[in-house]
Amino acid sequence: MQARAKNLVLGIESSCDEMAAAVVEARSRQILSSVVASQIETHRPFGGVVPEVASRQHLRDVGRVCAAALQESGVALADLAGVAATCGPGLAGSLLVGLGYAKGLAYFAGLPFLGVNHLEGHLLAAFLEHEDLDFPFVGLVVSGGHSSLYLAEARGRQRLLASTRDDAAGEAFDKVAKMLGLSYPGGPAVQEAAEACAGAGVSFPLAGMKDHSLDFSYSGLKTSVLWHIKACRAAGVEPDVAAVAKGFQAAATDVLIRNTLKACDQEGCHRVVLGGGVAANARLRQALGQRCQEKGITLFCPSIPLCMDNAAMIAYAGGLRLLDGETSGFDLSVSPSLGF
Ligand code: KG4
Ligand code: ZN
Repeated sequence: MQARAKNLVLGIESSCDEMAAAVVEARSRQILSSVVASQIETHRPFGGVVPEVASRQHLRDVGRVCAAALQESGVALADLAGVAATCGPGLAGSLLVGLGYAKGLAYFAGLPFLGVNHLEGHLLAAFLEHEDLDFPFVGLVVSGGHSSLYLAEARGRQRLLASTRDDAAGEAFDKVAKMLGLSYPGGPAVQEAAEACAGAGVSFPLAGMKDHSLDFSYSGLKTSVLWHIKACRAAGVEPDVAAVAKGFQAAATDVLIRNTLKACDQEGCHRVVLGGGVAANARLRQALGQRCQEKGITLFCPSIPLCMDNAAMIAYAGGLRLLDGETSGFDLSVSPSLGF
């Protein structure tokens, strides 16, 4: 393969209900285009993502989204160094659309192809906006499917420090939103309701592991919210949605903050990187920022579009792997429960 001055990569992300494509120059961490076709309105009436509906919509969107990303970037197919797509974890039918399209495009254009782990994308997204970010760092990836803490020592070398024993943070936000009658997706709806509460909010216990591990657990907190709602109704009153949302949001984010800071102490690390949809939460960003500042830790938060599912992070992760001389075979298939 001929060495190229620029490492321009087309990335495709379709692990859930977003079809996204982006062109990124990995060496300079530059995003040339980033297009996202969201299906939120399609799935809202169902209160969650319907996998079959998502993959059928992806089939309709993939061609135009990739064409738009290429056109906006001004980069010709022939000038790309490779095509990268999410190969897991995620919904099988959704992943198949993006991965299949990426393989076809790469094969047709004679380009290297890379399957990228969605979680590696979230972990590395902050690099695209922070020139001063470098390894090592403690990474907190919090999304609809994962709540994990990593010690990232180098690209491709990360140690899992903690994960969730039950629900992911975003899943807990989504489930509590449903209990409160708030709309899908639950995270932004809970945040908005919490912001409307002028008082202290309902006090819920912080979930802690008895064995002092850094793992997360949301089942206890979720049950506390449910009991509170039931107790209100048994007493003949409707729960104060804003106060419950504020209390839940505080407890759910405090446990993320506490364990992240513990991980920094444990590993002697002074950098924290956030990633994943829940990293868009304003209370988490503000409170973690404040605690990091107090402790002399530098916090790197991606902007909101780069916290949510996007293809720039996939293109970037793929670009870094290409620079390390890695590629994937065209026989690579999707891995819905791919670990990281
Ligand atoms: O990373 P992401 O876009 O998709 C997955 O890989 O899962 O994350 C989606 C999750 C959803 O559970 C959503 O409710 C949550 O991120 N989320 C939030 C906020 N925005 C999105 N959770 C809390 N506060 C928010 N502002
Ligand atoms: Zn995600």
